[in-house]
Amino acid sequence: MGKIIEGDKIALKLFKEIKDEVSKLNRAPVLGVVLVGNNFASASYVKGKIKAGKKVGIEVKVFDYPQTATESEILEKIQNLNNDEEVDGIIVQLPLPVHLNESIVVNSVRSSKDVDGFTFYNAGRLFRGKPLFKPCTPKGILHMLRESNIEVANKHVVVVGRSNLVGLPLSRLFVEADATVSICHSKTKNLEAITSQADILCVAIGQKEFIKSKHVKKGAVVIDVGINRDDNNKLVGDVDFNDVFEKVSYITPVPKGVGPLTISMLLMNTLSAYKGDFYE
Ligand code: GUN
Repeated sequence: MGKIIEGDKIALKLFKEIKDEVSKLNRAPVLGVVLVGNNFASASYVKGKIKAGKKVGIEVKVFDYPQTATESEILEKIQNLNNDEEVDGIIVQLPLPVHLNESIVVNSVRSSKDVDGFTFYNAGRLFRGKPLFKPCTPKGILHMLRESNIEVANKHVVVVGRSNLVGLPLSRLFVEADATVSICHSKTKNLEAITSQADILCVAIGQKEFIKSKHVKKGAVVIDVGINRDDNNKLVGDVDFNDVFEKVSYITPVPKGVGPLTISMLLMNTLSAYKGDFYE
């Protein structure tokens, strides 16, 4: 079906490009992943990153800490990785256990290795239009629209969700791409009145199948960033796919939509970190 934006296929094309480039390097790029605690979803995302890394020749080294790990242990590990010349990119898998200060831990990653783009330094650079690394999910969404020949300039993009990881950086990238952007969130009054004006509706709120047909304009493009489990333990997005399907011109599925692009962009950023080609 032509309406479905097949993230897995777009990601495969990127994997091939990354693999070709990696095959010409002197050593495999290395991504260090700091994983703390036993969050089931995080463990599964990290497995996906290892598997994707293997496909393209990027080594994903996981440093797995128990729920009881102390902040100083984690900070010491990150310092070691910062100083290790054979580690190109570092990510701290989120969420962290609540006794760890997320800002302190994330910001201890050296900015030139911050391939998630989550440090305050890189977030600041992003908002001034000069990021070292663009955050992976927002970067992946813009890429999938480009690959699907969906024009962004002059469109009204509505982003539902204002997180630092997705909603806010995504809005920034759309502004940069000459879209007109509205940001909605949990305190927005009459959400439907705003979302139903969207030419491109992006949803990242973490509530299963929240967006229904009434929220969507006929012919809209819908990008679903959510990953939730329904009552049958099936993966579903933040958008009720079946409810909106007839009305939309394009939609990303869950799974195999945005997720594979996030991983591709993480590998792409790791390759950039290896090459050191990120300063403008
Ligand atoms: N947790 C959920 N998504 C992400 C991500 O893209 N990066 C990291 N580090 N943690 C996450």
